[in-house]
Amino acid sequence: MKVKPLNQHAFGACVTDLDLASIDAETLDAVYQALLRYGLLVFPQQNLDEANQAAFGEKLGTLEFGGLLLANQVKQEGGSFSDVLPTSSHRMKTNIGNEAWHTDSTYWPISSKCALLSAVRVPAVGGETEFADMRAAYAALTPETQQKIAGLSAYHSTEYSQANDLGHFPQRRPDSLYHGEAYLRPLVKIHPETQIPSLFVGRHAFGIPGLSRRDSRALLQQLVSDAVSDPARIYRHHWQVGDTVLWDNRALLHRACPYDYSVPRVLIGTRVAGEPASELAYYPEDPAAAGGRVALDEELKHLRRENAE
Ligand code: OGA
Ligand code: MN
Repeated sequence: MKVKPLNQHAFGACVTDLDLASIDAETLDAVYQALLRYGLLVFPQQNLDEANQAAFGEKLGTLEFGGLLLANQVKQEGGSFSDVLPTSSHRMKTNIGNEAWHTDSTYWPISSKCALLSAVRVPAVGGETEFADMRAAYAALTPETQQKIAGLSAYHSTEYSQANDLGHFPQRRPDSLYHGEAYLRPLVKIHPETQIPSLFVGRHAFGIPGLSRRDSRALLQQLVSDAVSDPARIYRHHWQVGDTVLWDNRALLHRACPYDYSVPRVLIGTRVAGEPASELAYYPEDPAAAGGRVALDEELKHLRRENAE
């Protein structure tokens, strides 16, 4: 296996001369060590299918989901693809939501450890995936800002982010992403394995306790926009069919880039859950969860009103 850094910043590497579908224990360990170091690994020409990707994902931890199509088409019986979904569809609203900087699954009790995407059909223009190194973003903050955010946390909810980014207010259902809970997480995450601090923000974050709504929104927006303002902290992946990308959700933000939604974009996705010791906020049964529900309902009231204006 060969590991070639994508830049001079120890952020992102291209990994070749291995087969993810038949990886041995020693190579797997080398891949994982590279993930911890670079945060993002690009594996060209792996051509993983849903089952292969999920099987590789399982070697990295407990799956949230494995080998799911994250696409603007539905795979039909027999393997052919449906027409491209309209932008009004629920699926496309989720896809378009992914175009704002985020880290995965911070809206579940346990946020994600790492995730995989593999390209099946990609637009000729646009539809890239961008990654931002939040370790470097944290390191670049002034000592004053580091001190200011040291004790702060934000609630995370994708009921919030879909409403805030798209004006989409999906029906609340306990068994869906839109479950009415919001999970409080520190703005600075200490990586459980490398101990490197990173800025843990993104589109799902809102409602910093102790700050006014205005100050909280302004701070969260400023932190993200500063974090992604330096090209040295950004990598944009131009997909080739067959590519697989693996990233560390405990150290990076990512987002999809827009494209012509009438052309197919089909990726396979697998998401690995974090560890309870480091990625668990609390469960809904926990008395601590009550504050999140109150904060979310309050925030949604504001967003509904602003959306109607
Ligand atoms: C995701 C995601 C980005 C993309 O699946 O979690 O953010 O480029 N995808 O589709
Ligand atoms: Mn994502």
